[in-house]
Amino acid sequence: MLELDHVSRQFGGLQALNRVQMSVPAQKVVGLIGPNGAGKTTLINNISGLDHPTGGSIRFQGEDITTTPPHRITRLGVARTYQNIRLFGEMTVLENLLISQHGRGKATIFDSLIFSPRFRHEETQLHERALTLLERFHLTEVADDRAGNLPYGDQRRLEMARALATAPQLVLLDEPTAGMNPIETQQLGEQIIRLRSEGLTVLVIEHDMSLIHQVCDEVYVLNFGEVIAHGTPEAIKHNPLVIEAYLGHDDDGAA
Ligand SMILES: Nc1ncnc2c1ncn2[C@@H]1O[C@H](COP(=O)(O)OP(=O)(O)OP(=O)(O)O)[C@@H](O)[C@H]1O
Ligand SMILES: [Mg+2]
Repeated sequence: MLELDHVSRQFGGLQALNRVQMSVPAQKVVGLIGPNGAGKTTLINNISGLDHPTGGSIRFQGEDITTTPPHRITRLGVARTYQNIRLFGEMTVLENLLISQHGRGKATIFDSLIFSPRFRHEETQLHERALTLLERFHLTEVADDRAGNLPYGDQRRLEMARALATAPQLVLLDEPTAGMNPIETQQLGEQIIRLRSEGLTVLVIEHDMSLIHQVCDEVYVLNFGEVIAHGTPEAIKHNPLVIEAYLGHDDDGAA
């Protein structure tokens, strides 16, 4: 589904990613862990087209997307959430979902100007899809609230619902449970498992090891931009290189 071949990203003198080899199989949940500053977000930025590698290549479903712009990658079927939540705070929850779906349909601007049947049909479909997502992420009751006023956990779920509104095949999640309590975290894990059962593929950055164990089929560990381990959650947990990488960073005892 997704293949990274020797992907590097250099920022001036800093090697944020160093010849990363990664393969994300279809309909699996793959975890991406590593200490703070390891390059996890940079990796997702490069896959989603927000940033581009300085070396190596990225393929999605056989197509080279190494230098493809983000809106085209979205259209190919890749969606993401952000570590620092990016919602339209002044808009309602429902509006946030509707706006993210634009550009997915086949109706043209002309269709919308003349309010054609095709346009109306698509609008109805988008609206129905948005309502289904609200239901699924327990946001129906706050549909008309301003997104910026929601509690943190709700905002995180709205981010995930918004990513799914584009009907992706691959979802990239950057610390989806950050700021959530243990019950919310557990429920989010169940949502991820449900996505897999529906045929989606997930790449998830996460510091909470219990969530990693709950949802991941396999895990990659990054340290200083390099993959230092890859395997099942259980194997990773006992890998001496991984243990050492985490002990070496006493600013991050969470994982
Ligand atoms: N646009 C940029 N310009 C310069 N350096 C950057 C840029 N983006 C990231 N970096 C650097 O690249 C390294 C990796 O950062 P990244 O955000 O990918 O880490 P991370 O693994 O997501 O960390 P965290 O767990 O704290 O989110 C860091 O040293 C960071 O300062
Ligand atoms: Mg990050």
